[in-house]
Amino acid sequence: MNLVLMGLPGAGKGTQAEKIVQKYGIPHISTGDMFRAAIKDETDLGLKAKSFMDKGELVPDEVTIGIVRERLSKDDCEKGFLLDGFPRTVAQADALENILSDLNKKIDYVINIDVDQSILMERLTGRRICKDCGATYHLVFNPPAKDGVCDRCGGELYQRADDNEATVQNRLDVNIKQTKPLLDFYETKGYLRNIDGQQDINKVFSDLDALLGGLQ
Ligand code: AP5
Ligand code: ZN
Repeated sequence: MNLVLMGLPGAGKGTQAEKIVQKYGIPHISTGDMFRAAIKDETDLGLKAKSFMDKGELVPDEVTIGIVRERLSKDDCEKGFLLDGFPRTVAQADALENILSDLNKKIDYVINIDVDQSILMERLTGRRICKDCGATYHLVFNPPAKDGVCDRCGGELYQRADDNEATVQNRLDVNIKQTKPLLDFYETKGYLRNIDGQQDINKVFSDLDALLGGLQ
């Protein structure tokens, strides 16, 4: 199953990706996670990405497309993949068509997690992430049993550097502008499926699961 997960920052891509990967066993390819890992390891890629991410701007297409091409060429993508946060521009979507055609693969669905913009600021500023296992929480909507501690592994929870109010606002502005042409692109190709992302987390997943069950 070859999937692309779309949605504005905070729509719930990472939260749902975790569940899809657990159930369907396909690799989760998040460009945001790849950039954050590179920043932590202080690689050249990390150095390039950091200044854009800190401002809530998109990392340039040529950098982003290169890492996705490399990742999709790995053996574990033979059984399928879940792209999260890529593509984000029409240029990236065009590049993805070329990459997949070179690899003799094709997208099954582009799933758009649809959420009203007005709730995203609260979702993002209240997000907390486990530094050990990466599990995502929310102070109000999905709180851990014990403050600041991961339910799953006991790890410490932290706030992402770009989840402060000013950077969130810029991420939203940048992504809102890019999203409409991208949705049109995939609608025209017949790949697009919309999922209501304003329901509770488990209900969003059961809608996704019903859609994905049809692919097996
Ligand atoms: P990236 O890491 O992709 O971040 P994003 O798109 O801003 O999305 P988020 O990870 O913030 O949100 P999400 O949809 O995964 O939400 P989550 O599930 O955590 O990108 C970061 C940066 O990297 C970009 O700004 C850019 O600089 C760069 N970048 C990445 N990809 C790029 C690309 N292709 N091109 C160029 N640059 C790129 O949920 C959010 C919160 O809400 C959580 O607290 C969660 O618990 C809660 N929540 C989730 N679902 C629900 C629900 N149904 N009800 C209530 N609360 C919920
Ligand atoms: Zn954890």
